[in-house]
Amino acid sequence: MQNTTVNPSDLCAHLQRNTDDGHLYFEGANLQALAEEFGTPLYVYSSAAILEAYHAYAKACEGLANTTICYAVKANSNIHILRKLAQAGAGFDIVSAGELARVIAAGGLASKAVFAGVGKSVQEIEYALGQGVGCFNVESEAEMARIADVAQRLQTKAKVSLRVNPDVDAKTHPYISTGLKENKFGVSMTLAPQVYAFANQHPWLDVHGIDCHIGSQLTDASPYFDALDRVLALLDQLASQGIHINHLDLGGGIGIRYLNETPPTPADVLPKLIGRVKDWAQQRKRAMPSLSFEPGRSIVGNAGVLLTEVEFLKVNEGKHFAIVNAAMNDLMRPAMYKAFHAIAPLVERTQGQAQHYDVVGPVCESGDWLAKDRALRIQAGDKLAIMSAGAYGQTMASNYNSRGRAAEVIIEQGKARLIRRRETIEDQLRPELDL
Ligand code: LLP
Repeated sequence: MQNTTVNPSDLCAHLQRNTDDGHLYFEGANLQALAEEFGTPLYVYSSAAILEAYHAYAKACEGLANTTICYAVKANSNIHILRKLAQAGAGFDIVSAGELARVIAAGGLASKAVFAGVGKSVQEIEYALGQGVGCFNVESEAEMARIADVAQRLQTKAKVSLRVNPDVDAKTHPYISTGLKENKFGVSMTLAPQVYAFANQHPWLDVHGIDCHIGSQLTDASPYFDALDRVLALLDQLASQGIHINHLDLGGGIGIRYLNETPPTPADVLPKLIGRVKDWAQQRKRAMPSLSFEPGRSIVGNAGVLLTEVEFLKVNEGKHFAIVNAAMNDLMRPAMYKAFHAIAPLVERTQGQAQHYDVVGPVCESGDWLAKDRALRIQAGDKLAIMSAGAYGQTMASNYNSRGRAAEVIIEQGKARLIRRRETIEDQLRPELDL
């Protein structure tokens, strides 16, 4: 059986178990007290952890090149978190008009946002152009033509980068690998020159750069270098056609520790990627292109936990279940990817027998589980932290089973602040009753 015991502080330096009182603290705040004050299920984020993770990226490219860190909003789109990152200097990677509206509401600059996604609608393109979006990362020939049409109609030049699909294996879960030719993302290396040729001669398109994102939760850095080599070879080919690209967007994807993974850090990966681009530019006696990266999970993943409470303990023919008040609608990753999230009681019990539990939610689906076969010393009423829930947690939450979405709290220097109130039943009914 796999050892699933995780020391919380190995996931996030700001998560500490106090050995005197047995309570779990996050950036100095007592999580049991927060669960009592705000109720559960509750997402709790550490401001310090988010900013440290962002600064690790900013620092990794300090003095190396003209680089922007475009935080991937899909990982966690709470406006208060976006505001912190905007104030720290981040740009944003967005995939919908809704995400752009969030960035703007947070005080972020549309001009520092890059708009990715395979199915941008005419309305979304109009909105983004009207807001002065930094760049469209274009994912197909048809989309390039659509952006050109909208730009022409609005008489506004659209900055474009082509997202290329380098066909490298990111060696991650098949649902979150994006750089293989069987994935729907990007344009193949063989089609790319033709799409660039179209964009380059179009009066309302401004060819800005090239974009490449190969997948998420990467724990091995080598696919980044393979992808970059292919991108640079394509840039040589384009240069021979008279198309000179001066910007590279190298995507996101650096993984985090959920159990015992040892993913590379930004300091391991970015300077080497930037160094390769620098060598390439020097050999060709051309100016160093500007660069951007699009990290999501590695900024917020381990800066968040989901707090929940045990409703009942239940035994079915020797199989033990802990039924908790968070469910797949709050945190979809286990149901969707069989993802592992560590679980820790907010107050450690010293007495009583540990038991192996499947930790499950109240939703009417057998797939509604949050953890399987975990040794826990718990009783009904105990509160638990589901770890590493800051990325792709609340952003993937739904109202399935007509459950309201959880509240969100951020800790800033030990103090908790509500940054999204719990969704009420009235909130859920309104779009139907308002008609
Ligand atoms: N850029 C693009 C174009 C992307 O598609 C993504 C993620 C990112 C950046 C950010 O990647 P990150 O640094 O977060 O790995 N729901 C899944 C993850 C889906 C990732 C989708 N694209 C999960 O919960 O694991």
